[in-house]
Amino acid sequence: MNLPVLTAVTDATWESELVAALDGSEHGVTVVRRCVDVADLLAAAASGTGRVAVLSADLRRLDRAVLSRLYTSGVAVVGLIAPGDEEADRRLRQLGVGHVLSGDAEPQVIAEFIREAAAAPPGRNEHGHGDPGAALPDLGTPPEFGTTAGSGQVIAVWGPAGSPGRTTVAVGVADEAARLGVSTLLVDGDTYGGAVAQVLGLLDESPGFAAATRLDNQGALDVPALAQLARAINPKLRVLTGITRADRWPELRGDSVRGVLDRARSLAAVTVVDCGFSLEQDEELSYDTAAPRRNAATIAALETADVVLAVGSADPIGIQRLVRGLAELSALIPGKTPRVLVNRLRSGVVPGDPGREVAAALRRFAGVPSVTTLPYDLDPLDRALSRGCTLGEVAVGSRLRLALTELAGDLVGVAPPAPPRRLRRS
Ligand SMILES: Nc1ncnc2c1ncn2[C@@H]1O[C@H](COP(=O)(O)OP(=O)(O)OP(=O)(O)O)[C@@H](O)[C@H]1O
Ligand SMILES: [Mg+2]
Repeated sequence: MNLPVLTAVTDATWESELVAALDGSEHGVTVVRRCVDVADLLAAAASGTGRVAVLSADLRRLDRAVLSRLYTSGVAVVGLIAPGDEEADRRLRQLGVGHVLSGDAEPQVIAEFIREAAAAPPGRNEHGHGDPGAALPDLGTPPEFGTTAGSGQVIAVWGPAGSPGRTTVAVGVADEAARLGVSTLLVDGDTYGGAVAQVLGLLDESPGFAAATRLDNQGALDVPALAQLARAINPKLRVLTGITRADRWPELRGDSVRGVLDRARSLAAVTVVDCGFSLEQDEELSYDTAAPRRNAATIAALETADVVLAVGSADPIGIQRLVRGLAELSALIPGKTPRVLVNRLRSGVVPGDPGREVAAALRRFAGVPSVTTLPYDLDPLDRALSRGCTLGEVAVGSRLRLALTELAGDLVGVAPPAPPRRLRRS
């Protein structure tokens, strides 16, 4: 049986020549629908009539979201570019289209690409879209950031509702990793109330993360573009600021968040993502699986991350929320064991030795074998917040800062220098 093919080719002459050349049984493909635009193509794909879409690179409104919907409908993609148009070639490949060829190729070559694309959907990963990194040209890296060639690790900082300290931990770990000499990118991925820019005193900042996801969606995000959007705090630390108005969440689509984080692996050795608290997936609420989802950024970051930090607050309510949250987390990312942090550790709210009690409760109720604790230390945090600085800048010897240095050192595999005696005592 011939392979059913959809076409969406902008140049009319070119299109009819292509259809005429492909049609006929000798190539093993049949053009079942000639679509006039992206909407037409998506409708045809959703109806299940085609297995492969042959589309031209300059098709209006062609972006990552469109390709994702094609792949979700089970349609593979072959991209056609004008002869010698390297820019279009690069853009399609960055969008994850693995089968790209010049429009003047012989019909049998185009048919071969169509069959290949149908057999192995182009660069599709477990999420159903391409790995743009595979086709990334070598563009070099910004001078102050070491070349990591896609090997940087991604750390997602998550925690349940109730402000357990996700932002404090994400900012602290990123700043301390940078101080240990590791190039670090801090990403504000909280779609409920991004606060990283404010914590760092970056007022009037337009959201770099949203701009990066927009570029990725258009297939135009490369490492230099990402570096430009990520504001440099110091030579080792960059920040992609978040959306401060919660109603802008639809801008952070899951597939583009994955695209940005994949690209971040080439920009920085470590990328730390401050996530939102909610893990709810909107499937129960909506049948439109292509619609943007409120928690897509958090879920995409958790799925992409190499290391997940789960932060809870060291009080009875915080621990109970953490226990429930860990169960939700393991359902979302089975097989990925989070590192559990208990923040705001203090005596009084928990009877007995708070560290021991908290660890015992988490072992008993959530099967967590070991817990990292961070002390309650409000004064230095208030001092840092009032100045828009980090603990590493204004509270070098504070207990919380020392605990965050140790945690960051452990995560990035660099031993922190021993604190001077005077600081250790304090
Ligand atoms: N170890 C700590 N000791 C004392 N106060 C802390 C500690 N960690 C965080 N806080 C304070 O708790 C508040 C909430 O912290 P943070 O903003 O980091 O939490 P969050 O989980 O990111 O909250 P949100 O839900 O707003 O995103 C802040 O005022 C912060 O200064
Ligand atoms: Mg926060």
